[in-house]
Amino acid sequence: MSHLLEVQSATVAYGIKGAGSHKLALSDVSLSLPEKPSITAIVGESGSGKTTITRLMLSLQTPTMGSVRYEGKDLQQMDRKAFLRYRREVQAVFQDPFGVFNPFYKVDRSLLLPVQRFGLANSTDEAYALVRKSLEAVGLRPDDTLGRYPHQLSGGQRQRIMIARALSLRPRLIVADEPVSMVDASLRATILESLYRLKVDRDVSLLYVTHDLTTAYQIADRIVVMFNGQIVEQGDPEQVIHEPKHAYTRALVAAVPPPDPSVNWGLEVAA
Ligand SMILES: Nc1ncnc2c1ncn2[C@@H]1O[C@H](COP(=O)(O)OP(=O)(O)OP(=O)(O)O)[C@@H](O)[C@H]1O
Ligand SMILES: [Mg+2]
Repeated sequence: MSHLLEVQSATVAYGIKGAGSHKLALSDVSLSLPEKPSITAIVGESGSGKTTITRLMLSLQTPTMGSVRYEGKDLQQMDRKAFLRYRREVQAVFQDPFGVFNPFYKVDRSLLLPVQRFGLANSTDEAYALVRKSLEAVGLRPDDTLGRYPHQLSGGQRQRIMIARALSLRPRLIVADEPVSMVDASLRATILESLYRLKVDRDVSLLYVTHDLTTAYQIADRIVVMFNGQIVEQGDPEQVIHEPKHAYTRALVAAVPPPDPSVNWGLEVAA
């Protein structure tokens, strides 16, 4: 078995009301994520199908045609036990973490519930211990984070809590759709570094969806370029950036602003 998660020849069509026609959000797309820990970045313009492909991978949506396989097994044909394991091992981090938290509960609840639901702790103390470890792994101090309400935390802290929440379930893959587009530039590097470290330190793979070719280049092992519901190019970041084959990739590369030498990404301690 050489792939962790695979989308095979997936097409997603949406009907257009009254027009009797449909629009293809994805058109015969195949994408495989390797078994070994890796970071895959999906870049592409708005509406190119990036979120749609992540929704298929998270089983939030089923393809009109084609299939999604986890460790070689079709998600739609899995037994309940295998599906639950997939649900635990593939976790999502979304763009706007504020929308995910219930404003009336302390963040503790959002962190503890998944751990308890998946039976990863035998007691509340054990669940707390797991949660504290995960918070530390994303650079948050548990004592400053627990006991607070979502609005008492910054956007960057909320986003890192989401990553900690995913991490506490011992995932093999985190699917992050535009995880840093709602936080300011200074925090972007910190959050991306937390995600990057998960691969290096904890063998967690990442599927990173972004508009931003620069950060994709900095953290990814592979870049996938989407355009109009299709994958038009994929490969090693060096190759995609320095020898772009598709006209759209060339346009993306040309649009990247020159590097800012004052930004330290802290990523030089690569694996
Ligand atoms: N529920 C829906 N009904 C109809 N069309 C949809 C629906 N969801 C997505 N689409 C269409 O499918 C296409 C792909 O959408 P998708 O959200 O995957 O794009 P995206 O690459 O994530 O864009 P963005 O960068 O803006 O997030 C778009 O044309 C979008 O309008
Ligand atoms: Mg999107």
